[in-house]
Amino acid sequence: MKRNLRAAKRIGGTITVPGDKSIAQRAALLSIVSQGPITVVNFPRNADCLSALGAAKNLGVREEDGDDSMVLHPPTEKSVAPDTIIDCGNSGTTARLLAGLVSGSTQTVILSGDESLSRRPMRRIVEPLTAMGAKLIAVDGHLPLTVHGRKLLPFEYDLKLPSAQVKSAILLAGLSSSCSVTIREYTPTRDHTELMVGAIGEGLSVREVKSVTEPDPVDPRKKRVSMPEPFKNEITLSSQARILGGTVDIPGDFSTAAFFIGAAAISGGTVTITNVGLNPTRTGLLEHLRAIGCTVQTSKRTVVSGEARGDITVTGGELKGRKIHGEAVVGLIDEIPIIAVMAAFAEGTTIIRDAGELRVKESDRLSAIAENLRLMGVKCGVMEDGLVIEGRLEPAGADFKSFGDHRIAMAFSIASLAAVGPSTLDDDSAVGVSCPNFFDLVQKITS
Ligand code: S3P
Repeated sequence: MKRNLRAAKRIGGTITVPGDKSIAQRAALLSIVSQGPITVVNFPRNADCLSALGAAKNLGVREEDGDDSMVLHPPTEKSVAPDTIIDCGNSGTTARLLAGLVSGSTQTVILSGDESLSRRPMRRIVEPLTAMGAKLIAVDGHLPLTVHGRKLLPFEYDLKLPSAQVKSAILLAGLSSSCSVTIREYTPTRDHTELMVGAIGEGLSVREVKSVTEPDPVDPRKKRVSMPEPFKNEITLSSQARILGGTVDIPGDFSTAAFFIGAAAISGGTVTITNVGLNPTRTGLLEHLRAIGCTVQTSKRTVVSGEARGDITVTGGELKGRKIHGEAVVGLIDEIPIIAVMAAFAEGTTIIRDAGELRVKESDRLSAIAENLRLMGVKCGVMEDGLVIEGRLEPAGADFKSFGDHRIAMAFSIASLAAVGPSTLDDDSAVGVSCPNFFDLVQKITS
């Protein structure tokens, strides 16, 4: 539905956002291969997580609802269907991780998805899973994807494309087929799968490669920092690895919190998000916020179910443009839509490079961002792998387009709060993919 949006007089307040989508989907999918039940606390019932839960149920998992948690009972001999078509909806994480899990099973499953998911590349998982011994048939590299599970072979893989979905697909294939896997990660990506196996299972280890400081061979008075190996992490899953079951308590989704943090940034207000995930592979945005002139505080830090969490308070300031590129992009990839909105309200130029992956997310996010920014009267150049955004005084309200993408819809709804004049959003239902109560939360921090 089309939604009317208006500028806020004041932005500020304290909110809690729904549970982390990446973690919740992993909990649902791991229940398919778990030996015992998994109690999930704070499972967010958004479209993507319901796709993962629906897939698990299709493969025989039984859901038992409690007051503020649910128990996922793994499939029994009786409950497993031999041939199944599974609709992954809009969820790339469900499609790719499930392809891995089924690859190592004895089943044949056909994975389908909505129009957006059917445009997203699947070769990145088809190639390594095929090399492990599974048989996968995609349609020109896309869904629908038929996965014929097989007994897989021990596997070593250099993960050159920094993708947690590819990494997790391979690990889940290893888990379901009880075959050993070694993955070398050149750029660290979100590690929720590794942490969850550590919390409710066994048999996975991660070796972090640390840089070494040594005398420079040319001039021994100087020091030289080098990496003893070319990769950053070596992840090893043993053939005995398994999911035992237990509790997964899900923190708030940092990537959803980012939109409300963005509202504070562009308005000079103060917003606190409580009980939100602070996994360091996800929080690159906090460093960016400090660098562009915001005040950022974290408190009540703790670790639950292997995952860091705490409260974040952000106060906006005089924003400045800046360049984001290289490895840092991976740690804030899902936050680039709201970073681009902040760039519109900043003084100077923001340059984003090495972000070509945004072209194959739920929409072509580089084009979608540029189109909406230009509607606000903001100059924005688009490159194959990034954006150049010229901040301006008083960006104008506009008739924004969601492109059916939850993060584009949320980013530009936030932009409307500090823009001059009214705005509209063509399709507000897009937010349901990760945060169905998004507009209620916006109301809580605006007056
Ligand atoms: C995700 C990994 C990232 C991220 C996506 C969720 C995950 O994608 O952008 O929203 O849950 O593993 P890639 O693996 O494609 O980088």
